[in-house]
Amino acid sequence: MNVLILGSGGREHALAWKIAQSKLLDKLYVAPGNAGTLQIAENVPLNILNFEEISEFIISNKVDMLVVGPEDPLVNGIVDFFSIRPEHNNLMVIGPGKDGAQLEGSKDFAKKFMQKYNIPTARYHTATNENLEESIEFLKTLDPPFVLKADGLAAGKGVLILNDFEETVSELKNILEGKFGNAGSKVVIEEYMDGVECSVFVITDGRSYKILPEAKDYKRIGENNTGLNTGGMGAVSPVSFYDEQFAAKVENSIIKPTIHGIKEENMDYKGFIFFGLINIKGNPYVIEYNVRMGDPETEVVIPRIESDLLPVLMSVSGKELENENIRVDARAVSTVMLVSGGYPEEYEKGKVIYGLDNVTESIVFHAGTSVKDSENVTSGGRVLAVSSYGDNIFEALEKSYKSIKKIKFDKMYYRKDLGNDLKK
Ligand code: AMP
Ligand code: GLY
Repeated sequence: MNVLILGSGGREHALAWKIAQSKLLDKLYVAPGNAGTLQIAENVPLNILNFEEISEFIISNKVDMLVVGPEDPLVNGIVDFFSIRPEHNNLMVIGPGKDGAQLEGSKDFAKKFMQKYNIPTARYHTATNENLEESIEFLKTLDPPFVLKADGLAAGKGVLILNDFEETVSELKNILEGKFGNAGSKVVIEEYMDGVECSVFVITDGRSYKILPEAKDYKRIGENNTGLNTGGMGAVSPVSFYDEQFAAKVENSIIKPTIHGIKEENMDYKGFIFFGLINIKGNPYVIEYNVRMGDPETEVVIPRIESDLLPVLMSVSGKELENENIRVDARAVSTVMLVSGGYPEEYEKGKVIYGLDNVTESIVFHAGTSVKDSENVTSGGRVLAVSSYGDNIFEALEKSYKSIKKIKFDKMYYRKDLGNDLKK
């Protein structure tokens, strides 16, 4: 079969790497892809938000399955676009419809859903320009720090955590007045949850589900979790505190009610659910839903899946997932992100990347890379995810750090402290 993956990050390279190993695969396309996907698939310069353009490509290249990597096309309704077109009757699309994608596309929608289905999460109130007085009253019932979340997609920048009450009120007004554009026409005000974060991923056909390995990512740019938030500076899987007891709590109090809610709301959901969790004294709470895989979490979760992914995805599409059995590699996987100096603020692009061919003990997933004059060059903030297997996450991290010594580009930066917080 022929598969088209949409996206261009480390997540998409990892998905492509896995699908490329499938016995069922004939031809793999990635749009737009990066220098890494180019080595294992054909990159296609499509605009992932231009559904007509994607549709034409799918027809002329006899694509059987479309795997949507990032959230934007999902929130914009790509699944609905294809589901109503008779010419795409046989196309398998991996991702939720527009309604299910609201779990990520609107924080207010997600909170209402969690409340309705009794899923543990922070207490909240949704502010608009119309209920500002009431919203400030709610804020007064909370202890600092205060959490403000722009309702819509804001490229990972829409969450503010502030200590000062007056500053919080003024930021609340700024967001409502357009600081994050339309994404901030509503703002979710939330109780702060103090605990350790981790993520778990589920694949569902809308009826049954399979749980994928859990992971923990490192969001801050600086060591010891300091500095600005990033898309993610690295990740590890498994997570030490995610033991059997915790996993059972997650499944019973979070995953099952979420799948139940998806069914009750008649959502057309065939794809991944990413549960952003926080562990508070041994109990899991939901921080957020995403309707896609995480990045860089995919770069540790996918290498731990032993089973061929394509039959699983076919079963998702055919609503036969309950018959599948997903085998997980007992080994740990860790990944370290190499980023452009300056990221997540201003950074330069076009730096030549040296040494990739010398890496033998790790898998290098490309993120912001492209090919220029037959050389790999940087083309984004997050450039490469260096993933390794090990008996535990620390051994895997050690291997990644060893491999990184062989890679070089101008102003390359990475965190050297990953995993330290998990050492006993
Ligand atoms: P989100 O986009 O909702 O995942 O928020 C981004 C980050 O902000 C999360 O990964 C957490 O680190 C932090 N965060 C969000 N909501 C809360 C909360 N209620 N309490 C504590 N930290 C939070
Ligand atoms: N690593 C967090 C995310 O993909 O949203």
